[in-house]
Amino acid sequence: MEDIDPLRDDILREVREAGSPEVLEAIRVSALGRRGRLTLLMRGLGELGPEARRVAGAALNAAKDEIAASLAEASDRLHRAALANRLAGERADVTLPVLPGPPSGCDTGRIHPISQTIDEIIAIFGEMGFVVAEGPHIEDDFYNFTALNIPPDHPARQEHDTFYLPPRVDGSRLVLRTHTSPVQIRTMLAQPPPLRIIVPGRTFRADHDSTHSPMFHQVEGLVIDRTTHMGHLKGCLIEFCRAFFDVEDLPVRFRPSYFPFTEPSAEVDIGCSRAGGELKIGHGGANGPQDWLEILGSGMVHPQVLRNCGIDPAEYQGFAFGMGIERVAMLKYGIPDLRTFYDSDLRWLRHYGFLPLDIPSPVRGALSGGAAA
Ligand code: PHE
Repeated sequence: MEDIDPLRDDILREVREAGSPEVLEAIRVSALGRRGRLTLLMRGLGELGPEARRVAGAALNAAKDEIAASLAEASDRLHRAALANRLAGERADVTLPVLPGPPSGCDTGRIHPISQTIDEIIAIFGEMGFVVAEGPHIEDDFYNFTALNIPPDHPARQEHDTFYLPPRVDGSRLVLRTHTSPVQIRTMLAQPPPLRIIVPGRTFRADHDSTHSPMFHQVEGLVIDRTTHMGHLKGCLIEFCRAFFDVEDLPVRFRPSYFPFTEPSAEVDIGCSRAGGELKIGHGGANGPQDWLEILGSGMVHPQVLRNCGIDPAEYQGFAFGMGIERVAMLKYGIPDLRTFYDSDLRWLRHYGFLPLDIPSPVRGALSGGAAA
């Protein structure tokens, strides 16, 4: 059999010089493929005598191993080079500054005050370890009412001015959720405690005037743990109110109240003054007598609600709260009429909206402090 060294050296050189994975594959096929140069020589071994076959066979196997190793090495090198090339091509310079002024889109678009307020609320509770949960707008009666300890004949059902969908075959009716509280139930049924969630979202009630809209937003909070008590509820909500309104000594008051799904229940008021006809959040102090504004409902989760979700009230307790987002947005940003939130009036949005880069921070609401001019 002819000397295979020159053939081996040729193939190794071709491999070294291959400039792409495709070329490399062609070389592999032409050397080691079914009709490859080395393969054909291997087939020829049968025609040799025993001794010659042994010598030539060993040499062919050694050459084959060497070529296979060099193919693997080259393939690795080519793939790494291709990746580096691609990354270099897709490189984005994140330090590039946004162009000042028009025509950059960042200057014309505005973040709606509802979105901004939701982001601020999430940032503050996120810092306290809450995670966001969501649920459907169309709810089953069970989640919106029954599991929340509001049985069919309960007067709270009438107070909710519920939008009902047409009856289903079995006579039951789905509802547009009247509050974000059904997500408490969904979460407790889906995940074991401890839990710490906030739930921003749309809610619906058949009510329409300057302070009510048939569609509005709430944010729900729920904490379930082994030793949760009213002190945690108070500490958490006082902290939230002060961070959200950016008033360090903001007076916060807990007023006994009633919700079927919490016991005890408390409504939360923040201090304000209305001296000179101007509403100011914070201490009445020298500006006039202390006045109060109700901003949220809260309470310790009712043991029956825990039981409805398979949680043993002797082992776990918790607190919950619900807050109207439009209301706190109006208070924080001095927006006088609820209905204007949904008018889609560009002049209004330019006035009350936020610059897209005005990122909400957990500590003080919007970083730049306040609505864009
Ligand atoms: N779901 C109540 C409402 O819409 C608010 C609330 C939530 C009260 C959680 C207590 C606890 O009015």
